[in-house]
Amino acid sequence: MSTIQWFPGHMAKAKKQVQEKLHLVDIVLEIVDARLPLASRNPILDQIIQQKPRLMILNKADLADAALNAAWLDYFKRQGLPAISIDSQHNHNVQQIEKQAQVILADKIARQQAKGIKNKPIRAICIGIPNVGKSTILNRLVKKNIAITGNHPGVTKRQQWLKAGKHLELLDTPGILWPKFEDPLVGQKLALTGAIKDSLYHSDDVALYMLAFFKQYFPERLQQRYHITEEDLTLTDPDLLMKLTADFGLKQDYERASERLILDCRKGKLGRYTLDQVIEAGS
Ligand code: G4P
Repeated sequence: MSTIQWFPGHMAKAKKQVQEKLHLVDIVLEIVDARLPLASRNPILDQIIQQKPRLMILNKADLADAALNAAWLDYFKRQGLPAISIDSQHNHNVQQIEKQAQVILADKIARQQAKGIKNKPIRAICIGIPNVGKSTILNRLVKKNIAITGNHPGVTKRQQWLKAGKHLELLDTPGILWPKFEDPLVGQKLALTGAIKDSLYHSDDVALYMLAFFKQYFPERLQQRYHITEEDLTLTDPDLLMKLTADFGLKQDYERASERLILDCRKGKLGRYTLDQVIEAGS
């Protein structure tokens, strides 16, 4: 879990650092959490990045709903953004990154080849909010464990290029954007998946959001996991939280019960889910 606190000074500095790194690279790898492909983006990147080629990477695809992974890839492609989904923890589909970067930069590579420049590596940087998996992806691509010491806003160090494939080089420090959670719903989504610090939210608010989400989309999973009846599902969210707190033997400790529900959700005990619906994105 990230411990980064975002203050306006940090945000300005992080933005400047990302901007400075951009002209060193041929392509940006924008990393998002496949469970929240919208909420885990920061639109500021669009401003910073402008015309720079970009590959959207929906990471943690193993935790997200498979059908919605496909729907989100389709959504981004319709927006003109090439996108792939990967599971970097289990090294699934990670090698697609280099292949897709070559496809996106095919014209540039062809122009270089026409000038006699052959096998010039593609230079890339991973950018995203904390906890989306930037370091995991970097380590997978580089095929060794790199201690990412600069993985903190405000920390500067000399840039190094890491060999990340036959035709790919990565900047050793990812670009970090801040999570954007002024919208309470976005904040709850980020909190539920562990993208923001626990002290930034009330666990019962997040648990109520979680119960509402699962009641709407996967009521049977709540029934199975918590041994509740169909009738229990008709309870209001706060009443259901009260019932579960009692069932857990936690008397009236709603906070601890909420934390337990949140942890179950983060650990995948309620199965794969995607909190952002494609329809919310206006598709
Ligand atoms: P960051 O650099 O963007 O901040 O993220 P990082 O790579 O540190 O990854 C954050 C957490 O997400 C790590 O868990 C990592 O193992 C996990 N993770 C990364 N990619 C994937 C993926 O594709 N699938 C799954 N299931 N998990 C992934 P952690 O070390 O346990 O951290 P935390 O859970 O304590 O935050």
